[in-house]
Amino acid sequence: MDDEVRIPNEAVPTQDTATPDTAAQDTAAQDSPAEGVAARDVAARGTPVPGAQDVREGAREGAREGARSEGMGRRTLLRAVTAVPLLAAPLPAVPLLTAGRAAADGAPESLPGIVKPLPAEWFVRHDTNAETRWDAFRDADGGAALGRHVPVERFFVRNHTSTPLIDPDTWSLELFGSGLRGAPTAQHPVEFGLADLRALPSTRISALIECAGNARSYYLGQQGQTVPGTPWRLGGVGSASWRGVRLAEVLRAAGLTGAAVDVLPTGLDPDYVTGGTNYGPVRRPLPIAKALDDVLVAYEMNGEPLTPDHGAPARLVVPGWVGVASIKWLGTMEVADRPLYSPWNTDFYRMFGPDHPPGGGAPLTDQVVKSAFELAVGARLAADREHRLHGRSWSGAAAVRWVEFSADGGRTWRRAELRDEPRADGWTRWSIGWRPGRPGPYELRARATDRRGNTQPEREVFNREGYLFGAVVAHPVTAV
Ligand code: MTE
Repeated sequence: MDDEVRIPNEAVPTQDTATPDTAAQDTAAQDSPAEGVAARDVAARGTPVPGAQDVREGAREGAREGARSEGMGRRTLLRAVTAVPLLAAPLPAVPLLTAGRAAADGAPESLPGIVKPLPAEWFVRHDTNAETRWDAFRDADGGAALGRHVPVERFFVRNHTSTPLIDPDTWSLELFGSGLRGAPTAQHPVEFGLADLRALPSTRISALIECAGNARSYYLGQQGQTVPGTPWRLGGVGSASWRGVRLAEVLRAAGLTGAAVDVLPTGLDPDYVTGGTNYGPVRRPLPIAKALDDVLVAYEMNGEPLTPDHGAPARLVVPGWVGVASIKWLGTMEVADRPLYSPWNTDFYRMFGPDHPPGGGAPLTDQVVKSAFELAVGARLAADREHRLHGRSWSGAAAVRWVEFSADGGRTWRRAELRDEPRADGWTRWSIGWRPGRPGPYELRARATDRRGNTQPEREVFNREGYLFGAVVAHPVTAV
């Protein structure tokens, strides 16, 4: 079965480092000819587009005017943002699974603000976001449709507003602040164009990007708790191979001093406006310790230049942390000798609620443990034969240690067979044999434990915004 290896449970040493050499192979293994065509078409949209110069210039102006400004720069940026797909990329043929897939409902195949096509066979669309369907990880015949990395055209998209189109030739990343030698100002920053970044030593890593709200819909669906925000199922996550330059290298080249405490990367997407408040551009402070540890300024995803929806020309990839840390469409980066704040580490992406500290918990960092079946919700399976069920488990904190399976409401559990050597930088694929025996409805459960001993609970502790749902998800199927 493609690049899978069978690993006996618990017999695997920890391997927490990226193994760059396997990245290309992982991606190549998943590329059917049809997908290859689509990937090239999507990549082509990252090249210069009319008006993109305005985006960069406008963004610079906007940054100078302050984060909450609605000055000319930001307006120019908004005008240049596309609301429809630029190219009608040919859609690859997708084998359809029978149960649970969205029927072709005549809905548009894209969303306002997202450039790439979003075929219903691959995505569930939510407002300005699109999640990857877990049943699309398998072919109709049960074979693996995707390898360890999710192809760019199938990767979930989480946009607070909309994808900006930025000319990579005129773009630059601007660094300034009191944590850099000479304390350069926003008006006279240290600049790195794309060619400058590419000239620095490059690194390739595997990393998951996962939205902090992934699986949020189960607060209501399983626990009866209403929470606001995008009702993700389990598809607000994806694994990819990323190439770029370590943020530590960029910071050092910009003149990092020992006084630096926080780094504030800011995106070039339009201001986030909600509930009548303009929160300014998406930006979230990162402590210097994490910035210097394993954070990447990525300019390639799965071996191709970043595409517009995933942050072109350059984005952060912050391994293990909630996805919002991985700021897309990098524009400016303040490096300060004092703690920095933005709504994304004060108002949002913290835990609020009766079981959390008064005034809210610390800004979210590590992702929790999760598991998902590569199976349609409501799949229909023959009752009288053994099925091989597949899934993936992952954790932001450590490699997966083991995965358990239950088909009887969690009364009894069996160990699943791990099919990857568990790694901290990605998910672990697993499978398990299951014979329903008698016809009727069933709920399948997968429960993972990571090497730090974090296990998926039966129930998640409520928080007001519905972040970090890590409880075991009941997956309904019918045996016929
Ligand atoms: N960066 C900017 N500038 N704007 C955004 O809306 N969304 C964040 C993060 N970076 C976001 C951003 C969130 S919440 C997530 S989960 C990831 O990007 C999603 O990355 P993807 O769309 O490439 O999957």
